[in-house]
Amino acid sequence: MYVCVCNGVTERQIRQEVAAGARRLEDLQDRLSVATCCGQCRDYALELLERELAGRLAVAV
Ligand code: FES
Repeated sequence: MYVCVCNGVTERQIRQEVAAGARRLEDLQDRLSVATCCGQCRDYALELLERELAGRLAVAV
């Protein structure tokens, strides 16, 4: 599913970037350009990032 229509960024790409080390929204912006145009996707991209990071912490504990 697309998260950022402006830049064609999908949930899958965000998950892949978190797996590759992205930890902040700025990391995703640098790597994928998500939330760098109209900004409508910013909140959801951040939510997805936080959810992925929380899931990784739960697995690591
Ligand atoms: S939908 Fe992501 S910047 Fe516009």
